[in-house]
Amino acid sequence: MANQDDQFKKVISHAKEYGYIFQSSEIYDGLSAVYDYAQNGVELKKNIRNYWWKAMVQLNDNIVGLDSSIFMHPKTWKASGHVDAFSDPLIDNKDSKKRYRADVLVEDYCAKIEAKIDKEVKKAAKRFGDAFNKDEFVATNGRVLGYKEKIDSILKRLGESLTNEDLADVKALIEELEIVCPLSGSRNWTDVKQFNLMFGTKLGASAESAMDLYLRPETAQGIFVNFANVQKTGRMKIPFGIAQTGKAFRNEIVARQFIFRMREFEQMEMQFFIKPGTQMEWYDFWKENRLKWHKSLGLGEDNYRFHDHEKLAHYADAASDIEFKFPFGFKELEGIHSRTDFDLKAHEAHSGKKLQYFDHEENKSYTPYVLETSIGLDRMFLAVFSSSLMEEELENNTTRTVLKLPAVLAPTKAAIFPLVKKDGLPEIAKQIVEDLKWDFNVAYDEKDAVGKRYRRQDAAGTPFCITVDHDTIDDKMVTIRHRDTMEQKRVAIADLKDIIGQEVDVKHWLKRM
Ligand code: GAP
Repeated sequence: MANQDDQFKKVISHAKEYGYIFQSSEIYDGLSAVYDYAQNGVELKKNIRNYWWKAMVQLNDNIVGLDSSIFMHPKTWKASGHVDAFSDPLIDNKDSKKRYRADVLVEDYCAKIEAKIDKEVKKAAKRFGDAFNKDEFVATNGRVLGYKEKIDSILKRLGESLTNEDLADVKALIEELEIVCPLSGSRNWTDVKQFNLMFGTKLGASAESAMDLYLRPETAQGIFVNFANVQKTGRMKIPFGIAQTGKAFRNEIVARQFIFRMREFEQMEMQFFIKPGTQMEWYDFWKENRLKWHKSLGLGEDNYRFHDHEKLAHYADAASDIEFKFPFGFKELEGIHSRTDFDLKAHEAHSGKKLQYFDHEENKSYTPYVLETSIGLDRMFLAVFSSSLMEEELENNTTRTVLKLPAVLAPTKAAIFPLVKKDGLPEIAKQIVEDLKWDFNVAYDEKDAVGKRYRRQDAAGTPFCITVDHDTIDDKMVTIRHRDTMEQKRVAIADLKDIIGQEVDVKHWLKRM
């Protein structure tokens, strides 16, 4: 079993080799924490976005979509609190001159303790064999409990120090835990300072008249400023939601995290407007609903957990992350935030425009409360991609690399091969491609032996391979091979559309929710 670092490196190199993700401007040595989606990546990303949009917008008659602009009036970010409070606590190592997020240094320290718990669990599982009960072991083993207590007390203190803006205590915590710089190995740290994450730019031709703008650091504010427009023109009744997907920008201090933490990334957010006082009900509802959405993809039940926030953002009265087991451990994938009426009230105050809702049942106006679900599309991509990449031992003592992407998300649904490049087989295979391409993304491949072509498609994540052979000429049947089971079946060409359709159909997958 490769260690976490090796596994993560494999994910990154596989993503490049199979045309999923490239470093941005690679010919100029790249740009840090910025990435491009290649020919397969763009399809996978689009399919994830569609899967979210279908579940959130099309299947909910009280949620509508929006596509607001990246540039927004600068007052937006004053009202939202981003100008004053959207910053990370940073610390520099004086020897390596490297800059880190102070909270991430502490969290990474806790992740190492977490890894020790995993090790204890694995050891015990081996010792007790079939009789092993993981939940009971974790709840009773003295060493595990000690580790957990340590993590809880560290994170509690970190949360409190950050909430109280006590940056000196964050530094003290780093020193007490004897955290060293991963590069220099030294404990020669500067003080912790806050650093605003928004990118600034200018709008306008001349230097004098130019207006200072920010690239949006979240898509959510585009929804809040359009609340009244959408509510009125869509005649929306509370509770209702507005959803959008789009780019967001943050000047992140990053350390080799690939697409987990980027400076330019895409969010899929939904703001759900509700009656004040009902927020806890909806908070529980959306936590459960979003977890079901994740689990419908079959990436592994044990790969998810909730992390309820100790430290709440300035706008929230409750918040939880859905964490996913990435190759580098459990980390935030999606946030569910109870945002109260903070945003609408703040925009009302800064714009002077009324952002209220008239409730006909109650015969009164009020500022709605908001429940937000916010997921990073790139992070979701990494979750899907990294958990799908596997090395499998085969019966004949060989291994295969297979990317077991959920079929509904796979960039190419089927690859069609002629067994040989002659005797009219390529023509039949190409005709199958012509027929299927109206319904699915399909590929034609005639190069190399069939076995090699299977391996290539396995590694690229294609769920089906279809081979045309000499018998096809007479019986109009082909061999269809399933990526995950490697099972092969002879089926009629006329049935291919239905066979593939059943497995890649969004409905088939989302019905599992
Ligand atoms: N509107 C709320 C909001 O933006 P957030 O927790 O800052 O909340 C929401 O971000 C989600 O966006 C995160 O759970 C994560 O999936 C994604 N995200 C945030 N920063 C990111 C970054 N630098 N790179 C990639 N994804 C990011």
